Amino acid sequence: MNNFKKPNLGSLEANYKTLVTQIDYLIEEENDITAILSNVSSALQETFNFLWVGFYLIKNKELVLGPFQGPVACFRIKKNEGVCGYCWKEKKTVIVSDVNKFPGHIACSSQSKSEIVVPIFKNNNVFGVLDVDSKSFNQFNIIDKIYLEKIVRSIEKKLI
Ligand code: SME
Repeated sequence: MNNFKKPNLGSLEANYKTLVTQIDYLIEEENDITAILSNVSSALQETFNFLWVGFYLIKNKELVLGPFQGPVACFRIKKNEGVCGYCWKEKKTVIVSDVNKFPGHIACSSQSKSEIVVPIFKNNNVFGVLDVDSKSFNQFNIIDKIYLEKIVRSIEKKLI
């Protein structure tokens, strides 16, 4: 039962710091949001080899699948449905250490064991979410939250 991953927080933070700089540089000259979200998904995936990294964007009062890296995922999620819909409703980052213990979790992949979802805001309203899934239980911690939120703040600057 050694499924719980013990993160090395120092190197995790160093990796995120480098990644944040790279992403800011990468998206500096681009304003197309689909293009930006596609490359941000790729950069996160290439750095951390997560099971699934991607975006759901609100369209007609539903979260609709956007650019992502990883296995096929569900197309649409309603408000307060699953971890993504809960994040949308609560308007704050949600960390789920064991997806089996989150009531209503939507299992797009049976390999997903833990998850973090970060809201993206435009004009103080939720525009969409960044969703990251891991094959390990207990993958995500305060460092992931801080730096994924930093990355989302960079994305939000492109939404104005
Ligand atoms: N697990 C998510 C659904 C999206 S997939 O993980 C890509 C949820 O419960 O909202």
